[in-house]
Amino acid sequence: MNHNRRGRSLATLAVHAGQGHDPATGAHATPIYQTSTFVLGDVARGAALFAGEEAGNVYSRIGNPTVAAVERKLAELEGAEGAVAFASGMGAAAAVLLSLLKSGDEVLILGPIYGGTRGLLEEMLPRFGITARAVTDAELEGAVGENTRMLYVETPTNPDLTIHDLALVGAVAKRHGLVSVADGTFATPYLTRPLEHGIDLVLHSATKYLGGHGDLLGGLVAGRLELLEPVRMEGLRHLGATMDPHVAFLLLRGMKTLHLRMAAHCANARAVAEALVGLPGVAAVHYPGLESHPGHAVAARQMDGFGGMVSVTFEGGRPAAAAFLEALELFDHAVSLGDVASLACHPASTTHQLLPVEMLEAEGVTEGLVRLSVGIEAVDDLVADVKRAAAAAAAVGLAAARAG
Ligand SMILES: Cc1ncc(COP(=O)(O)O)c(C=O)c1O
Repeated sequence: MNHNRRGRSLATLAVHAGQGHDPATGAHATPIYQTSTFVLGDVARGAALFAGEEAGNVYSRIGNPTVAAVERKLAELEGAEGAVAFASGMGAAAAVLLSLLKSGDEVLILGPIYGGTRGLLEEMLPRFGITARAVTDAELEGAVGENTRMLYVETPTNPDLTIHDLALVGAVAKRHGLVSVADGTFATPYLTRPLEHGIDLVLHSATKYLGGHGDLLGGLVAGRLELLEPVRMEGLRHLGATMDPHVAFLLLRGMKTLHLRMAAHCANARAVAEALVGLPGVAAVHYPGLESHPGHAVAARQMDGFGGMVSVTFEGGRPAAAAFLEALELFDHAVSLGDVASLACHPASTTHQLLPVEMLEAEGVTEGLVRLSVGIEAVDDLVADVKRAAAAAAAVGLAAARAG
């Protein structure tokens, strides 16, 4: 793996980027600047700060030194000019969409995507005249219409780990003068840096792998300053989904070990995926690292590893999926992902519950699908846990098949 950019490896950037010692006190760890506002000095300086003619802190809704350190760290990890932090991944997505789009604009989605983002794009934004349409990679170029302004993709997708070709998305966006946005939550910059593939903005739910310990909510967007300017000055300032300085401190601490955690997540997820393949009652295992995965070749090209997420489709639908979840001992049944502790969820009844069944079935988000966020526990314990739970699911699936 080669993460070298500007002469520094990702591991070094994860530890050091964005964080020098504190100029005010010499503190080695970045302090938590837990303040709402900052003293402006005289009126002339206040006016200059507000006009953006002088750099400096004004009010923590639009900027704070602890939050700024997180923004610099992510920007360096992504190879971006800058970044803007938010209170959650959804806060980041809402700010990007509302500050870069206007009534009459259309977004093309390469699905499936996280249910919350889908709800925002397909249910809420249409009330304000912004529409969205889901297309496949093959349809993408031909689907661009005169009102299309943005292409939106996840990499890999939530929940079924579809792999979209980022270079294709970036190239189509450039040819048609569109903004391309990639949600890199599942990959993190450890595995994929979408800007290197021609994507304009990369977005994260920092709640997940970037934080890494399941104890915070956060969001980040990185890219060119020209695109980030409206995202900060309108999307952040006017919508107000601001990251709290204490969260920024936790996130800085989490991001320092991103490379160590991601390596362990990837190794464990591969072992879990391989252990599930071919077991009775398992209809399909979705993991981009498996050669059987339809996106394996593209994943091998645009990822430096295949990630910590594995999805499994069980024969026997929801009852079999439920039996699997109930039999698991080390994987807690909970939404979210990217925690050092393993988690498992049933997207059709939780994260994707509000979306139409036909849409979900068409995109493979079926009743038998379970999503695993494979943690960094001992791999043998995790493999034993999923094998035992898969046997419980198979018994339920078999009984259902006999009854049916
Ligand atoms: C891929 C993806 N993007 C965005 C979000 C939203 O992030 P948050 O929960 O931090 O608002 C999620 C949440 O699960 C997600 O999985």
